[in-house]
Amino acid sequence: MIKKTLALSSSFAIANIYPSVKLFRRLSRLMKPDVEKLHKVLDEILDEIIDEHRMTDSRGSERREDLVDVLLKHNEPGNVNFLTIENVKAVITDMLFGGIDTSALAADWSMAEMMRYPEVLKEAQDEVRRVFKDKDGIDEAGFDQLDYLKMVIKEALRMHPPLPLMLPRANSEACEINGYKVLANGWGIVNAWAIGRDPKIWEDPDPFKPERFRDNAVDYKGLNFEYIPFGAGRRICPGISMSFALVMRLLATLLYHFDFALSREYR
Ligand code: HEM
Repeated sequence: MIKKTLALSSSFAIANIYPSVKLFRRLSRLMKPDVEKLHKVLDEILDEIIDEHRMTDSRGSERREDLVDVLLKHNEPGNVNFLTIENVKAVITDMLFGGIDTSALAADWSMAEMMRYPEVLKEAQDEVRRVFKDKDGIDEAGFDQLDYLKMVIKEALRMHPPLPLMLPRANSEACEINGYKVLANGWGIVNAWAIGRDPKIWEDPDPFKPERFRDNAVDYKGLNFEYIPFGAGRRICPGISMSFALVMRLLATLLYHFDFALSREYR
């Protein structure tokens, strides 16, 4: 697949993934019974989760309302935004598959880079401990004040986008990019990893420097094509706010309660 990559510029690389599409098709044919089995198991797990929620309705009970409760309200007859039970299952599955590994990777890389750069770790930790000093615990109300930690996460997403080759997309019309003709319905993948490391865009791209995002309007919301860890356009990741809140909470909690240092053999 690497050989087939058309380098449209050093950063915007669209790969001709046809051979891999063929491979995936073949693999999925080969593994069809396994995939069907897996699908059945996942469906049973989702049924169990839904039954459990229906049996212990959060309304009027001690249990706190969660996402499944909210989705199930939309499955009640008469709801203007009615969701079928299949829709409910699809949303839960999307969140499980789209949200867990990606957010965990963002947190892992932020932690790993902070360990490699102790001065960054110290600054992030000082900030978290200052902001939550007189509070009971880490709460979202303080997140607005965690400017440096936000920069750490942004920098980790620049260097280590959890979906480095994003999701394959097909263009609806033929077009030309940097002199390369791309046919209609041509499949392409955008290499977010290469964009984040492109020295034409990012000065000195290799070191981990959260400060590059200080007073820098570049954001991950899909409007700055030099920085697209969550994608862009109408299929941009719908979980941006949630994932940022998740990763902030996790990192802030770790930094607040624990001290970290690399063991001697890794220094
Ligand atoms: C740091 C965490 C995350 C990163 C880096 C990330 C990144 C991405 C990227 C690059 C895409 C493809 C966008 C495109 O092709 O333009 C995507 C799609 C998606 N993400 Fe995320 N994501 C994260 C967290 C989440 C969370 C927490 C959820 C759900 C709660 C989620 C749900 C989805 C879904 C459902 C899609 C498919 C959207 C569509 O095709 O219409 N993601 N994500």
